[in-house]
Amino acid sequence: MLLPHITVFFLVVGTSRSSDTIAVHQNISDGQTIVSANAKFELGFFSPGSSKNRYLGIWYKNTSPQTTIAWVANRETPLIDTSGVIKLDNQGNLTLVNGSGKVIWSSNSSATGTNMNLVAQLLDTGNLVIKNGNETNNEIVIWQSFDYPGDTCLPGMKLGKNFITGRETYQTSWRSTDDPSPGEYTLSISAVKGEYQQVYIRRSSAIKTRIGPYNGVSFSGRANYAPDASPASVSYVIVNENEIYITFISNSNTTTLRTVLTPDGKLEILQQKFPNTEWILISTLPVDYCDIYGVCGPYGSCNTATSPNCGCLKGFELKNSDDTSPDNGTSVCRRGTALDCGPGEGFQKFSSMKLPDTKNAVYSSNMSLSDCAVACKNNCACTAYANPNITPGGVGCLLWFGDLIDVRVFPQNGQDLYVRLAASELSGKPIILPI
Ligand SMILES: *[C@@H]1O[C@H](CO)[C@@H](O)[C@H](O)[C@H]1NC(C)=O
Ligand SMILES: *[C@@H]1O[C@H](CO)[C@@H](O)[C@H](O)[C@H]1NC(C)=O
Ligand SMILES: *[C@@H]1O[C@H](CO)[C@@H](O)[C@H](O)[C@H]1NC(C)=O
Ligand SMILES: *[C@@H]1O[C@H](CO)[C@@H](O)[C@H](O)[C@H]1NC(C)=O
Ligand SMILES: *[C@@H]1O[C@H](CO)[C@@H](O)[C@H](O)[C@H]1NC(C)=O
Ligand SMILES: *[C@@H]1O[C@H](CO)[C@@H](O)[C@H](O)[C@H]1NC(C)=O
Ligand SMILES: *[C@@H]1O[C@H](CO)[C@@H](O)[C@H](O)[C@H]1NC(C)=O
Ligand SMILES: *[C@@H]1O[C@H](CO)[C@@H](O)[C@H](O)[C@H]1NC(C)=O
Repeated sequence: MLLPHITVFFLVVGTSRSSDTIAVHQNISDGQTIVSANAKFELGFFSPGSSKNRYLGIWYKNTSPQTTIAWVANRETPLIDTSGVIKLDNQGNLTLVNGSGKVIWSSNSSATGTNMNLVAQLLDTGNLVIKNGNETNNEIVIWQSFDYPGDTCLPGMKLGKNFITGRETYQTSWRSTDDPSPGEYTLSISAVKGEYQQVYIRRSSAIKTRIGPYNGVSFSGRANYAPDASPASVSYVIVNENEIYITFISNSNTTTLRTVLTPDGKLEILQQKFPNTEWILISTLPVDYCDIYGVCGPYGSCNTATSPNCGCLKGFELKNSDDTSPDNGTSVCRRGTALDCGPGEGFQKFSSMKLPDTKNAVYSSNMSLSDCAVACKNNCACTAYANPNITPGGVGCLLWFGDLIDVRVFPQNGQDLYVRLAASELSGKPIILPI
């Protein structure tokens, strides 16, 4: 009586231990899957939406709908039938072949060491890694799917640029819900050394929405973010010698988050509250008219509480007095009084603002706000300054040179912006500094 029970016990242990990995020369065919250790994610073949094509992908194991896809391998090269087989070779290269043995996709990775116990392993983070199976540090990998994001960003994934490898990672929308090949939209962080970090949603090369700049906690002007989501998730921008990236962690054992860039260019933030299996949409971007990039043109300011939404920053006026509101086209704002770099020039403080595009700004991480004001005043080409950092005691200085673009009034999460104006345009308590 005892023996069969023991046999069953060992069988169960054996199956669950090996089921999150693909070993060298082991193959996984359509219909078979591997499941991460705590059954968070599953890898296998699927068909998206109403498509009949087959794709190798990773999905959430126990969420509804069941086919919440987190990652797709062969995005651009679908299998037309269920003949796909995936296997790992003894060099650490994971390949997907079709029924005729044609290579449909490969990780194109190779191990450098010898005598390695190579495996492809699906982690509970949703990351598929190729590594030495004897290596317990999950950071030491030969290849990882997290380096190749699709439309979905998961906690722990990095979006940005590695300056050593030159690789840039960004989110790309699917072409449609039936077709995971790269669509029209991308979401990427401005990962240029010396430039202050922002996030852009682009349609091909045209910027549609700007999120940011990063203020040490979140992104300035990030709208409609459910308050109960913020303690559970923390986003970081990491800047060091070798890389610039944004990442977020889900700082909770009771919820998780994912972000998706939809085929029509919207960034959706979705949350799951355990043990519920549904995803709740907690935020979408763009939210409103003022999220359209540069909608009010240079020196315009967008405000959803006024009609029309577009106006000129104080000290600026419509170029054509017949126009009623600035836009990104012909009716633009210009200075009421031209600058002459005279001693009376000063800065008008605007509060509760989404800071302008930092593409044409220069950043110093260690300057106080008063140093920043002096630096701007002393350079006649400097049009505005601000401290982008809202963390307590946070220093830092942004100096803008040229037009101020994509400014909006943002009461929930706004910041102070100091704009250079001629002496005659200053009012209230302007900041006038000695030269
Ligand atoms: C998959 O593995 C089985 C048994 O291990 C083997 O017979 C078959 O040829 C393999 N298929 C491929 C495509 O490698
Ligand atoms: C495998 O792919 C090749 C090239 O796309 C194609 O000609 C062949 O019909 C495919 N075989 C199967 C079984 O799908
Ligand atoms: C991985 O396998 C593919 C398909 O066989 C091949 O084209 C590629 O060169 C291999 N890459 C490496 C690094 O071995
Ligand atoms: C594999 O990687 C090599 C070196 O990075 C590259 O030249 C080659 O185009 C890649 N091959 C495939 C099939 O992606
Ligand atoms: C790796 O692990 C395998 C199986 O546990 C073992 O046989 C092998 O000797 C190990 N290799 C190294 C280099 O430690
Ligand atoms: C989440 O669970 C882990 C392991 O059970 C525990 O160490 C950690 O403190 C928990 N975190 C929170 C925020 O409850
Ligand atoms: C505004 O103009 C800029 C530059 O010409 C362009 O990149 C952007 O897409 C325009 N935005 C809108 C909403 O038309
Ligand atoms: C600010 O940082 C720069 C570059 O890191 C350094 O050269 C400069 O001395 C620093 N200034 C102050 C006031 O700490």
